Amino acid sequence: MLEGKNTHLKLGDKEDLDFFVDFWNNLDYYGDYEPIMEQMTKVEAEKRLTDSSRASYFIIQKKDGANIGLIVHFGESSGSMTIGYAIGPSEHGKGYGTEALQLMLDYLFLSKEIHRVQANTDPENKVSQHLLEKVGFKREGVSRKSSFVRGHWRDECHYSILREEWKEPRLLSTRAR
Ligand SMILES: CC(C)(COP(=O)(O)OP(=O)(O)OC[C@H]1O[C@@H](n2cnc3c(N)ncnc32)[C@H](O)[C@@H]1OP(=O)(O)O)[C@@H](O)C(=O)NCCC(=O)NCCS
Repeated sequence: MLEGKNTHLKLGDKEDLDFFVDFWNNLDYYGDYEPIMEQMTKVEAEKRLTDSSRASYFIIQKKDGANIGLIVHFGESSGSMTIGYAIGPSEHGKGYGTEALQLMLDYLFLSKEIHRVQANTDPENKVSQHLLEKVGFKREGVSRKSSFVRGHWRDECHYSILREEWKEPRLLSTRAR
């Protein structure tokens, strides 16, 4: 469990299967810009939650234990890791996204031999871009028509934060290593 002030991140496991499937399959949680993923069966969901070789899914929880979103890290290669995240619409704008990203950055830089964390977002997704910049990511550039989203080829904005820009943990102590 990665403990923040108002949220924590719980590594998803079998007991989170119902929440994970509902969240994944509910289009309301994708916002206006995210690619709509294929509907997921419980069998596929269990594979994703129990096999961390492709990706590790964390449930974003409020301090009272209520599940409010997902944050995932995947694609570790050449010292780099990619993250993705979403929070249920009724909980937007309350600071949970900021805390979830800070927790994930602390966790990744404290526990993995990586020197950068990256994230991609739709050019229109200003909230996500603001959030990334708020926690220290820098915009790297745009790849043109590189993502097929909701029936259209869309540009993607690329963001990253380097270990030296992260500097030190904001929410986790080094005991989390
Ligand atoms: C992006 C997302 C995770 C942000 O989560 P959140 O919990 O609302 O974020 P926070 O409450 O920590 O807010 C972060 C910043 O964004 C701002 N913000 C949040 N919602 C906003 C909105 N609807 N309009 C304008 N600004 C907004 C906040 O004011 C805050 O900035 P500030 O501290 O300078 O005031 C959430 O909007 C989401 O899940 N969207 C749908 C899925 C998605 O787009 N995921 C990202 C894919 S790249």
